[in-house]
Amino acid sequence: MIIKSSEFVVSNSDVAKCPDSKLPEYAFIGRSNVGKSSLINMITGRKSLAKTSGRPGKTQLINHFLINKDWHLVDLPGYGYARVSKSIKNTFQKFITAYFEHRAQMLCAFVLIDSRHEPQPIDLEFMEWLGEHGIPFCVIFTKADKLKPNALTRNIEGYKNKMLETWLEMPEYFITSSTSNLGKDEVLGFIENINNQFIGN
Ligand code: GTP
Ligand code: MG
Repeated sequence: MIIKSSEFVVSNSDVAKCPDSKLPEYAFIGRSNVGKSSLINMITGRKSLAKTSGRPGKTQLINHFLINKDWHLVDLPGYGYARVSKSIKNTFQKFITAYFEHRAQMLCAFVLIDSRHEPQPIDLEFMEWLGEHGIPFCVIFTKADKLKPNALTRNIEGYKNKMLETWLEMPEYFITSSTSNLGKDEVLGFIENINNQFIGN
């Protein structure tokens, strides 16, 4: 899919105030600093459409971006950021879960996982929560450029094995790098496919 236009629409902390549209949408979710906002910029080919930072906790709201005037990409705050206060964490948690529970046009969540790290309980638990709520999701392994090819393959295989302890099969997954554009065509192709099915219905 070619990205012809991408524009920021609105930020908010209330799912009820998200854009009142039936356009298909896709959300990027994962731990703080995993690279959600960077991936939105990489996918759209825009340097700073979504705000990024080396310090975790940058994105604090639900941010809608309109792509090609016919679908939304959604940048969410990270979960599991230890340095925000408990009450802020609870507020985040509440509107993130409300977003996933109520946003019927959210056709697929992309759960971002840092390809350098061992499987983390918080990510595994979040995916289980999505599964229990019947929310479709894929996995995106980020920051692939930070690993040598062998280490990357080993980590992804390790992750798959861990997932297979609880899941019947590994969900669809992508390997990306926001610095090299790795995975861009695959993620966009996947979204295009779902958009086409959505229009066909
Ligand atoms: P929060 O909004 O705080 O939850 O973080 P986020 O998940 O949106 O992460 P963000 O995109 O702000 O990136 C965090 C840091 O990781 C920044 O310093 C990025 O430049 C860096 N980063 C993100 N993706 C990549 C990548 O693919 N490769 C490399 N080398 N660095 C990356
Ligand atoms: Mg962010």
